[in-house]
Formats: sequence, structure tokens, C-alpha cells
Amino acid sequence: MLDIGVLGAGSWGTTLALHLYGLGHRVTLWEFRPDAAERLRSDHENKEFLPGIPLPDTLEITSDLGEACHGKDIWLVVVPSHVVRSVVERMKDLPLDDAIIVTATKGIENRTLYRVTEIFQDTCPQWPSERIAALSGPSLASEVCMQIPTSVVVASEFLPTAQRVQHAFFSPYLRVYASEDLVGVELGGALKNVIAIAAGICDGLGYGDNTKGALLTRGLAEISRLGMAMGGKRVTFAGLSGMGDLITTCNSPHSRNRHVGEQIGRGRKLQEILDDMVMVAEGVKTSQSAYDLSKRHHIPMPITEEAYYVLFHDKDPRAAVEDLMMRDLKVED
Ligand SMILES: NC(=O)c1ccc[n+]([C@@H]2O[C@H](COP(=O)([O-])OP(=O)(O)OC[C@H]3O[C@@H](n4cnc5c(N)ncnc54)[C@H](O)[C@@H]3O)[C@@H](O)[C@H]2O)c1
Repeated sequence: MLDIGVLGAGSWGTTLALHLYGLGHRVTLWEFRPDAAERLRSDHENKEFLPGIPLPDTLEITSDLGEACHGKDIWLVVVPSHVVRSVVERMKDLPLDDAIIVTATKGIENRTLYRVTEIFQDTCPQWPSERIAALSGPSLASEVCMQIPTSVVVASEFLPTAQRVQHAFFSPYLRVYASEDLVGVELGGALKNVIAIAAGICDGLGYGDNTKGALLTRGLAEISRLGMAMGGKRVTFAGLSGMGDLITTCNSPHSRNRHVGEQIGRGRKLQEILDDMVMVAEGVKTSQSAYDLSKRHHIPMPITEEAYYVLFHDKDPRAAVEDLMMRDLKVED
């Protein structure tokens, strides 16, 4: 049994906290707003981000980051990617002792274009890289909290760290694989959200299964191209954090990123859609970062590029699809 601090009480953080608690670990869940933490305690439910799922009385909930991290074997960071830096800044003076730091966040920071574990190393260079890991894969919170069979992958540059987390998180309904390809696992999980927005756009435009099949396949091709240029392994992009998550996110009615795309395809404006959402859709900010990364590494990413123009330059979604269809003819690679 381990002591685990789960940092971030959104849908995914709360789900993982419940999962780990159910496995017998001692879990402390951190919510950054004291009033929201108090509501979690008094409601015994996360009405904002995970309604309908009871929180046990004995699950510790705090808004004190130091308390959530103190003496823990694992610090599990599950806040949206755009706030990771501000949270980790507040953790940099906390004693790490023997803790492993795991992130289950999926995103790429705007401007720096850092993966989440790169933000860790930038902010807290004293954290040893062999104690850093990332968890990713097709894992919608709404299904994991109902104990629907799910498989994920945890990666660390130091395989024994990934294996330690693998054993701590594994259950009969959550199968966990280990990987040494931290770069590939993080990039797959982040970049697929951009393709999910594009898939939603196609749904909103009323296109069919042929379109979706092509989008997923060519989407994975461009994710793999960029990912390998950045040091990820080809096999990882065909794995759970690449193809696996892409299939789930692009098809699920529960995917927020696909939902954003679908609304755009139906003619709504991005800001209006985001204003209606309580929960984060990581793919929106990641589209900007992915576009910038493709330019930095000179990797063609036509679907990502069109998604970026639709989201941030008001390009007509139908024209974006037409432009993709009318690109120069290629050999399939
Ligand atoms: N929800 C899922 O099914 C799922 C599955 C796998 C991975 N993820 C990833 O997990 C990460 C978190 O997603 P989520 O679904 O839990 O998000 P969410 O939108 O459900 O919740 C966001 C959480 O972030 C907190 N937060 C907001 N601003 C903050 C700040 N300044 N400081 C600290 N905390 C702040 C909110 O209080 C809330 O607890 C994302 O990167 C997402 O892609 C989500």
C-alpha cells in the first residue's frame, strides 16, 4: 500500500484518486480552491467535474498543496496543462524524499512547446529524471469510474520507475503497460486531441465513416512523423497512447475535444463553445503548440494545420476539408 497525493480534482484526477483509493492506497486529493475542496468534503461528490459518483468519507481532500505532497510515495499531477507550471512552481520547495512524480495530464505548453515532464524539469531541475513518469492512453474518466475495462501505458526514461507505477495502478479493470518512451507517450496523448477536434468537425459537417477512417489514419501518420522527429519511437504511436487514444477520442460522444470540433462543424464559434464548457478541452491550446512544433521541426502536419486555421483564424471548416482533399497527390507513407 502506497501514500499517493493526487494533485488536481477535475474529472480525471478525481477518477484516479477513487481508483487508487479502491486499490487500498492511502490517497490525498488536492483541489486548488479551498471552497471547492470544502464542497467535495461536504457533498461527498464532485458535482462540478464528476457528478453522480460518491466520494468515500475516508478519502482525504485538501486545498493545502504541501499537505497533499507531504510524505507521499507518488505525486500524481492531473491539472490541465496550462496550469501545470503554476502548480509545479508551488511544489519546487517541497521535500521530494523518495517520491515518484507522475503526470496524467495531456497537453503541450503554448510558447515553450514543452511536454508536461519538460515543464517539470524546467521548473524543478532538482527532480531526478529517473523519478518522473507519464500515464496516458484511451481512458475516458466517465468509463474508468464505472470500472469499464481500460488499458493505459505509463512511461519513464527509467523503466523500473514506470514498472513501479504500473504495479501501483494496475487493477482487474485497469490494465497498465510500461514503456521507456516518455517522449512518444506524452506526444501521442497530447497531439491526438488536435485530430479529435478535426474528427468532431467532420461529424459536425455531416461527413461519414470513410472521412473518419481517413482522418484517423492520416492523423496518426502526421503525429508519428512529428513524434519521431522529436525522439519518440514509431511503435509507441501505434500503441495505446497513440492509435489507442486516437480511436477512442475521435469516436466517443464523451470526448470534449471531439465535441468542440463537432460544434464548430455545425457553425458555432470557438469562444461561444468554450464559454459553455466547465471542463477543459486540451486540444484547443494544443492545436497552437502542435502547429508551432510542426513549423519548428519542418514536419508537414496538414490536418493539424487546418485545425489550427479553423480554430484561430476563423477558416471555414468545409474549406479546410476541401483543401486537405485537394493537396498534391502523394505516395502513402
Ligand atoms: N477527463 C478525462 O477523461 C481525462 C482522461 C485522461 C486524461 N485527461 C487529462 O487530464 C488533465 C485534467 O483533465 P480533467 O478532465 O481532470 O479536467 P477538468 O476540466 O475536469 O478539471 C480541471 C481541474 O483543474 C483544476 N484547476 C483549474 N485551474 C487551476 C489552477 N490554476 N490551479 C490548480 N488547479 C486548477 C480545476 O479545479 C479542476 O479540478 C487534462 O490534461 C486531460 O487531458 C483527462
